[in-house]
Order: sequence, then structure tokens, then C-alpha cells
Amino acid sequence: NVPKKVRLVEVGPRDGLQNEQQAIDTGTKIQLIEQLAAAGLGYIEAGAFVNPKWVPQMAGSAEVFEQLKRAEHVTYAALVPNLQGFERALAVNASEVAVFCAASEAFTQKNTNCSIEESLQRAAAVIDAATTAGIKVRGYISCVVGCPYEGAIDPAQVAYVAKRLFDLGCYEISLGDTVGVGTPIAVSQMLAAVSDNIPMDKLAVHFHDTYGQALANILAALQLGVAVIDSSVAGLGGCPYAKGASGNVATEDVVYLLDGMGIEHGIDLPQLASTGRWISALLGRAPASKVAQALAAD
Ligand code: HMG
Ligand code: MG
Repeated sequence: NVPKKVRLVEVGPRDGLQNEQQAIDTGTKIQLIEQLAAAGLGYIEAGAFVNPKWVPQMAGSAEVFEQLKRAEHVTYAALVPNLQGFERALAVNASEVAVFCAASEAFTQKNTNCSIEESLQRAAAVIDAATTAGIKVRGYISCVVGCPYEGAIDPAQVAYVAKRLFDLGCYEISLGDTVGVGTPIAVSQMLAAVSDNIPMDKLAVHFHDTYGQALANILAALQLGVAVIDSSVAGLGGCPYAKGASGNVATEDVVYLLDGMGIEHGIDLPQLASTGRWISALLGRAPASKVAQALAAD
């Protein structure tokens, strides 16, 4: 079942930087995105058009999209919570947008100040407008294994929200272990439930590495045939509405795993690792990626 080729979705500039304590200037964000594209990443989530009072780190996303030198064949996506966010993304020519929901009521309230049902209605409005504008919409679901407020999440609930988002018109559903509590068997059970309703090739996995389980979970997902993986250079970030959650799995670590399995990905690992060390140094720390640390010592 293991795919021959995997598509990496680089979320560092959005999911990573949204949770960094220090303010990062627009020029640095742009440099990061351009370096990621140069290292071979073909899909980069470059910013978010959310309420800047909720996530101040993403306030400058319009400038990022406007000033970015775009490489051909690279998708520059924006995260949007509602129609207002979609219009802001459209105004700066985002190549794609992503909407987000959660499998947990409590998390949905904390993250978007509404119920799951209302968040699906907001997503529907974005998808309608995007379809009219000829823009593709990706869908995220948070808390697919566990929730910081509700604990373990029933795979049937994840399958329900995923099917709703997919039926609304998202071309791909990214399953997010927001707090990074998942382990491979739980992840496999969740994927089995979701893929009862949605083909495996329309699913992506999005792991945060809080408990160090992300690579093991990715291996489990690959063995079930998942071929799209979200990751963040240097393991940047976390989630502002999930206390203590650490960053996404590091892109460098995923690339090393894929190399070991003979799976194609199109990334230049030394160049990516050097980008990771550069942004980490700016943030005053070493990259969370073990691979980046090992390559630096070579
Ligand atoms: P709300 O306060 O309920 O919104 O927030 P509202 O509709 O009542 O509007 C209140 C104010 O927000 C108004 O301004 C609106 O104009 C403004 P005011 O009149 O007070 O001056 N507003 C906006 N401003 C800019 N852009 C917008 C926008 N929408 C409303 N798009 C809302 C509801 C959803 C907007 C808010 O809760 C929000 O922005 N939440 C975003 C939270 C967020 O970004 N979380 C992190 C991303 S999700 C994630 O990281 C998980 C993921 O990585 C997967 C995983 O790991 O699980 C994807
Ligand atoms: Mg995330």
C-alpha cells in the first residue's frame, strides 16, 4: 500500500510562525517561503487571513502574499476561517485556500468561537465563493485523535466531520493531530474510519510532534496508502489554542524517512536543512529536527 511518491504540504510559514512568541517581520517570512520553494517544496501554506486579534502573528499575511516572488509550479495557500478571510486571500491572489474545522466541540469554540455545525456552514460559504472564483479549497480537521479539552476523540466523529467537509467540496481533507497525542494504532483506526467514506488518495495527515510520535504515525499512515503529508521546516510552531502543543513534524525528518523508504518527494534535503537552521537561528534556538542537527554536525 505504501505510495511511490508523496506530496509534502509545507505549513511552517503559517502553522509554524503563527505560534512563535517573537514577532517575525514580513521580509523574513518572505525569505523563508522563497527558500522553501527553492528547496523543492511545491505547496506552501504562506499565511492566514484570520482575525488578527486572535492570531497577531498572521496579521501581515497580505503583505507576504503581495511581495512574495512566486515560483512557477508552486502553490501558495492561505488559511481562511470565513468569507471575510476568503475575500482577503482572494484580494492578494492566494493560489488556494484552506478552511478548518475540528472533531471536538470544545476545541471548535476555543479556536473559532462557534459550534462544529456553524464552522461547517462558514466552510460552505467559503467553498461556494471559492468555486465561483475558480479557487480550490483544502479542508483541515483538528483534534482527530485527541482534544486538549475533551480527551480522546471517537474516530466516528472524525469520519462524520471529514465526510461533511468533503461533500461540501474540499478536494482534500487534512487530518490534524493538533496536540500530538496520537500513537500509530489509534491513528490507523481513525484513518480506517475516515477512509470508509473518503478515498485514501483524498486524505492528508498533519501531525504535531508534542509526544515524539509524529514519524511513527506517519509511517502508519503511509502503510495505509496516505500520500500527502503536512510538515513544517525545523518543526516550527505549535497551536495557540492547544496549550503545550509543540510544532508540526519537521519537514527534514519526513524527507529523511521518505528517502529511507525509497519514496519520491522532490526535496533537496541539505538545502531544506540549511533553511531550517537559518530560521531557527533567527528564533534563537536549534531546529527541532534531529535530521537538521545531524546534517549540521556532518
Ligand atoms: P469572532 O470574534 O467570533 O468573529 O471570531 P466575528 O465574525 O464575530 O467578528 C469579530 C471581529 O473579527 C470583527 O471585527 C470582524 O471584522 C473580525 P471588529 O468589528 O471587532 O473590528 N473578523 C476578521 N478580521 C480579519 N479576518 C477575518 C475576520 N473574520 C472576522 N477572517 C474567527 C471568529 C473565526 C474570525 C476567529 O475566531 C479567528 O480568527 N479564529 C482563528 C483562529 C486561528 O487562526 N487558529 C489557528 C489556525 S487553526 C490550526 O492551527 C489547526 C491546523 O493547523 C490543524 C491542526 O493542527 O489541528 C489547521
Ligand atoms: Mg496544525
